[in-house]
Amino acid sequence: MKNILVTGGAGFIGSNFINHILKNRSDIFIVNLDKLTYAGNLNNLKDVENHQNYFFVKGDIVNDELVNYLFQKYEITHVINFAAESHVDRSILGSEVFFRTNVLGTNVLLENAKRFGVEKFVQISTDEVYGSLGPVGEFEETTPLQPNSPYAASKAAADMMALAFYHTYHVPVVITRCSNNYGLYQFPEKLIPLMIINAMNNKKLPVYGDGLNVRDWIYVIDHNKAVEMVLEKGKVGEVYNIGASTEKPNIEIVKLILKQLGKSDKLIEYVKDRPGHDRRYAINSSKIKNELAWQPQYSFESAIKNTINWYLENENWWKEIISGDYQNYYKLQYSSRSN
Ligand code: NAD
Ligand code: DAU
Repeated sequence: MKNILVTGGAGFIGSNFINHILKNRSDIFIVNLDKLTYAGNLNNLKDVENHQNYFFVKGDIVNDELVNYLFQKYEITHVINFAAESHVDRSILGSEVFFRTNVLGTNVLLENAKRFGVEKFVQISTDEVYGSLGPVGEFEETTPLQPNSPYAASKAAADMMALAFYHTYHVPVVITRCSNNYGLYQFPEKLIPLMIINAMNNKKLPVYGDGLNVRDWIYVIDHNKAVEMVLEKGKVGEVYNIGASTEKPNIEIVKLILKQLGKSDKLIEYVKDRPGHDRRYAINSSKIKNELAWQPQYSFESAIKNTINWYLENENWWKEIISGDYQNYYKLQYSSRSN
């Protein structure tokens, strides 16, 4: 039996991970430590909340006393650190909480992993640590780090700290760097759910700059299967890129969403660009494919349809979110962007 401390398990990727693992594995016990920030949502975990191999703890990864207690009480053997402040635009509005959670929080987890001698520590990082690409080329694991937003810089700092714990103390760290995820339960501040929900409400769809920035998309289930594989077979001290080779300019995604929802392109509004906006991401995932035999299984065409349909069928999930503090964030974010 593995006793895994999953942090940030009430967020988008973490909750999909927990749902996936508890449906498919009986040899894993999960302690989900999540602060329930604006992005954490226990509704994502309704199907598993009473599962015998699951326990939820509301708390902060920066709280060393709490983390120490959980390692001891649950005899933690593995850590998967999803917990983070994850939204680039929010990091531009204010960086402090990004440094606190993403850097100090990871450090607290690493210290405890060292203290208790875990079998593996999976640090969930991002391709954004590599910075921005021109029209050609791909990020490889050896690409130098050149983070551009406060979010990306905080994730890069956490990666460096994790690798330092491996080299200095032999903490069995493995790092994953994935590209842009989409799927069920994604908070509607990110491109795809924001555009779906705005279109459903006949609100303007704010496209930054010329709409030609490129992201490399992966369905969240494919990402999580890769994380599961890294947990099982990933070599310690290594970094694994994860992506599905699905590069798309933002405007293409926005038009596809409008088309599937039967809405007019007139809802599109080009707004002021994101400061420091990375132009293009493209990830080379040959290493995880060759060494761990992982392959993405979902095509973009079918998984995006599935995602749009889920938002159509689950209005209650997102209506609860957008009726709260979200409106204040939305006004703050987009008041500064209108051209
Ligand atoms: P998210 O914002 O949806 O969820 C983050 C979760 O972390 C939330 O449940 C939140 O409550 C929790 N959290 C935040 N601060 C915490 C703290 N101090 N202590 C405990 N819990 C805390 O994020 P996501 O999109 O699910 O991303 C998960 C991880 O994957 C992050 O580390 C992110 O950097 C990384 N990542 C995301 C993407 C993407 O496209 N979303 C791509 C690559 C990597
Ligand atoms: O690449 C992985 C990263 O992907 C993760 O590490 C981050 O946690 C995740 O948030 C995501 O970062 P991005 O900045 O790429 O994602 P976002 O959804 O915010 O934006 C995607 C693209 O869409 C980007 O080029 C900005 C643009 N955009 C975004 C929003 C929210 C718009 O044009 N309009 C918008 O309203």
